[in-house]
Amino acid sequence: MKLDIKNLTVCYKTGPHLLMALDRVRLTLEPGRITALVGESGSGKTTLGKALMGLLPDNAAMDGQILLGDADISRLKEEEMNSLRWSRTAMVFQNGPSHFNPVLCLADQVAEPLIHCRGLAPDPARDLALDLMGEMGLTPDQARRFPHELSGGQIQRALLAMALILDPEILILDEPTAALDAMTKQFISEVIQNLSLRQKSILLITHDLDLARNLADDAAVLYLGRIMEYLPARDLFHPKHPYTLGLARSFPGMEAVRDLGGIRGGRLLPDGSHPSPGGLPP
Ligand SMILES: Nc1ncnc2c1ncn2[C@@H]1O[C@H](COP(=O)(O)OP(=O)(O)O)[C@@H](O)[C@H]1O
Ligand SMILES: [Mg+2]
Repeated sequence: MKLDIKNLTVCYKTGPHLLMALDRVRLTLEPGRITALVGESGSGKTTLGKALMGLLPDNAAMDGQILLGDADISRLKEEEMNSLRWSRTAMVFQNGPSHFNPVLCLADQVAEPLIHCRGLAPDPARDLALDLMGEMGLTPDQARRFPHELSGGQIQRALLAMALILDPEILILDEPTAALDAMTKQFISEVIQNLSLRQKSILLITHDLDLARNLADDAAVLYLGRIMEYLPARDLFHPKHPYTLGLARSFPGMEAVRDLGGIRGGRLLPDGSHPSPGGLPP
């Protein structure tokens, strides 16, 4: 299934200020294609993922369209979004461990959507979870442990299994290989590639330009909430836009020219211009 993002704008209200985290973003995710969203810390990447999942916090206001096939899912009621979330669109979150309940074993958590969304009984649901976690490289013994008993790499494998358990069509992966050892990174890259071969539409959010170039088909470069450039991922280190060039040159492994160092603060709008959906400031 195709996911078409049209003019997506998101503002956060922070105290007296408004921060424009995304500014009229356009992006299309297509079956069998991996689209990389690259940009510095603070550029709005996670905000885009959360917007697609209908999981923006209460202080956010959104405008624009998110078309899943022909249906605009940007204005669905919570219970309607709930029926899509995890079964049709799923996200692997950044800072994964915090998304697990610390007092439940991992297999039971991975199995939960099968029980709640598909009505399976706990035992067969856990068996399916153990199978999928096995495909992600976790032994049944590891899968039955509590989150704090596993390494960061093992947690990431469990998070992937949880996102995939209902076989969603759209997958949003937020920094899926950050802070992982080389072997786990390679394994997860192969899983992502296989998912693409299975015709999933994949958004690969990353600040790792090497990963984006090696894994993705297309790339969008985000800066302060704006897409600076769309380009084939293989051209990430030979971009047309000067910002992409700066990003590429600041990337470790390339000839370091300067460190872009992250975005501090974002773009603040004057107070009183808090957008209502459909009525964002220009
Ligand atoms: N809940 C929030 N409330 C206010 N500002 C936020 C919130 N979440 C993110 N931001 C701000 O929005 C901007 C984009 O953040 P984020 O989407 O997390 O960027 P990235 O994932 O690219 O690092 C940043 O300036 C960040 O501080
Ligand atoms: Mg982020």
